[in-house]
Amino acid sequence: MSTTVENPNVDAGDDLAQSTSDASLARTTARSAEIRRQLEVDPSAFRMLTGDRPTGNLHIGHYFGSLTSRVHLQNLGVDTFVVIADYQVITDRDGVGPIRERVLSLVTDYLAAGIDPTKTTIFTHSSIPALNQLMLPFLSLVTDAELRRNPTVKSEFDATGDRPMSGLLLTYPVHQAADILFCKANLVPVGKDQLPHLEQTRLIARRFDERYGRAVPERPVFPAAEALLSLRAVNILGMDGAKMSKSKGNVIELRMTADETAKLIKKAVTDSDRHITYEPDKRPEVSNLVNLAALFLERDPVDVAAELGDSGGGGLKKLVTEAVNEGLAPLRARRAELEQDETYLRQVLAAGNAKANEVADATLDEVRVAMQMAY
Ligand code: TRP
Repeated sequence: MSTTVENPNVDAGDDLAQSTSDASLARTTARSAEIRRQLEVDPSAFRMLTGDRPTGNLHIGHYFGSLTSRVHLQNLGVDTFVVIADYQVITDRDGVGPIRERVLSLVTDYLAAGIDPTKTTIFTHSSIPALNQLMLPFLSLVTDAELRRNPTVKSEFDATGDRPMSGLLLTYPVHQAADILFCKANLVPVGKDQLPHLEQTRLIARRFDERYGRAVPERPVFPAAEALLSLRAVNILGMDGAKMSKSKGNVIELRMTADETAKLIKKAVTDSDRHITYEPDKRPEVSNLVNLAALFLERDPVDVAAELGDSGGGGLKKLVTEAVNEGLAPLRARRAELEQDETYLRQVLAAGNAKANEVADATLDEVRVAMQMAY
């Protein structure tokens, strides 16, 4: 190994462990606030990449957790890429499921939520060969020990029970680095749990330039991607007070009708105290419903609870149902229209894929030159 190359075995563990430490989280949070200010002033300084796995339907957690913020940043003028991470679906499951329907349903949700395909590039992993090819040089820059220590790989591995870990699950942080770096994104909106991925991405970017360094070291091939942490943890639970889970049937999906939504909320768990309060620790189920109404009404949950007073679980559910259904009505109306036009949805995806391919091809060309493989 050449002496100019840092040994991934030596520094990676430290960096990755650091990324989850309190001090580092505080730094990242402070930096996110700074980035938010910069975004308002100079949105064109940023290229953002985010994405979703097409494993199910988007729900109200996604709506408040990521969709509204993507739309906001897109409308500020941030150059935005959204990956529909279809290859990530097979990291920890055997089959792809009804992947085609799910991909188109994601596109529908995005557009209905306000993602504008003339401003945002929506693309699928599997359609971008050059993105996937970046995985090869990137894999040479990480060690298996480093990957095994990755907290997200660990937790996903644990969630799959006794299933042996696939090579793709082990290496998917590297693939995710390719998602981010193929378009040289410098901004990635994430939750806390995804920070180790971003640290891994920065390591790969840095090591690439250290190992294959270009003639102009102050102009690295890849930027250091920064996290944009969500402003507040929008901790929405399922209607039974448990974690949202499709199999539990406790999730309000964007694509549901107003009736389906009402039925689901009717079944929601409350408690026997008719006096409504917002106390997430003491009364998680009731507080979750209060919070949901407050989010859609753009009000403080404490005020919403106070106003409900002694109206009991029935009154609370009535308010939540109205707030959710009214809040989502415009999105759902657009969604219903879009759903009728599969040709358009596929055109949007084809155009996004064409753009992503252009960008990926250009980056791979640079990588080839850096690696002296431009023949
Ligand atoms: N891992 C993300 C998820 O579980 C999806 C994703 C794929 C992603 N590639 C990404 C997110 C790159 C941010 C950046 O939904």
